Parts: sequence; structure tokens; C-alpha cells
Amino acid sequence: MEEGGRVNRLHHWLCRSGRWRKTIERRVPWVVSGADLGQNVLELGPGPGLTTDLLRLTLERLTAIEVDPGLAASLRLRLSGSNVEVIAGDATTMPFADGQFSGAVSFTMLHHVPSPELQDQLLREVWRVITPGGVFVGSDSIQSLFMRLIHIVTRLCPLPRIHLACG
Ligand SMILES: C[S@@+](CC[C@H](N)C(=O)[O-])C[C@H]1O[C@@H](n2cnc3c(N)ncnc32)[C@H](O)[C@@H]1O
Repeated sequence: MEEGGRVNRLHHWLCRSGRWRKTIERRVPWVVSGADLGQNVLELGPGPGLTTDLLRLTLERLTAIEVDPGLAASLRLRLSGSNVEVIAGDATTMPFADGQFSGAVSFTMLHHVPSPELQDQLLREVWRVITPGGVFVGSDSIQSLFMRLIHIVTRLCPLPRIHLACG
């Protein structure tokens, strides 16, 4: 599964860029507004942590699980002493207790999970680790030429809209 998390250099650069920051400054509030996530929230696939930086401003406690050990280590270092705990691990098999979180979020990571079966497994894991009645919100990209370009050398498994709608 770890292979699915790998990203190429262009992708790495993009996820740290000012352009991406501007995009998520609009997207993250739009996605989380109206969702009662509670105060103990799980983020899947934070990458370099631009989304984490925004999310943590309004939360008591945020746990981020990142499959790339290098990205997890540098984010952990950058946010040490803050309200964020960073775990290196795979969101399809999470090392968390049932019902541990009040809610969960995922931004632009589900398409890295390399098959619909693993994406379903990840969603089952999210359901397991959030408290009954907890909310899971997120957003992901749809298929395009640009998406194919930034996923050369890595897996791209875009989610058909119907797949998301059916859960
Ligand atoms: C495109 S980045 C998005 C980063 C951030 N959420 C954002 O929107 O800026 C996707 C991240 O998800 C991570 N990822 C992919 N599959 C994962 C998995 N199974 N478990 C945890 N993280 C995963 C990748 O390593 C990568 O850092």
C-alpha cells in the first residue's frame, strides 16, 4: 500500500506552493463549514501540512496520519509542541482505537489510495475510528491531463463521483 502514497517532484513542489496554499485557503473552510467535526479530529494524508496549518487553528486537537515517513517526520518536527500529533502510518489500516476521534477529514489524498477496494477499506477504517454519529468530510480532484502529469511515477486512482456518493 505504501507505494500508492508516493508522489513525484512536481507533485511535492505543488503541495508546498503558494498557489496551492491559496487554493486550500478557499477550499478547506468551504468543506468544513457546516460540519460538526468536534474537537478531536483526524486528518488523513496531510503531506507537507498546508491543510493541517489551517485546520489546527480552529481545533483543540488534531491527529494527522501520513503514509510517507519522511513527510510525517518533517511535519512532526515542524508542529512539535502544537495541538497536532503526527503519526506515520497507512490510513487503510490505522493504529487507532474504535471511536477515538470526534470527526475526520481528508483533502486531496483519496486518489492516492491505489484501488477502489483500498479506498473502501480506508472509508471503513474512518468509520471505525470516529465516534458513532461523527462526521467525515473532505474533497478530492477529478480526472484531468494535469492530474495525470503530476502523478507520473505514482498511482492515480481518481474516485468516480458515483463511488463517493455511494460511500
Ligand atoms: C496530494 S497530498 C495532499 C496533502 C494535503 N492534504 C493537502 O491537501 O495539501 C496527499 C498525501 O496523502 C498521503 N497519502 C497517500 N496515501 C495515504 C495513506 N494510505 N495513508 C496516509 N496518507 C496517505 C501522501 O503521502 C500525500 O502526502
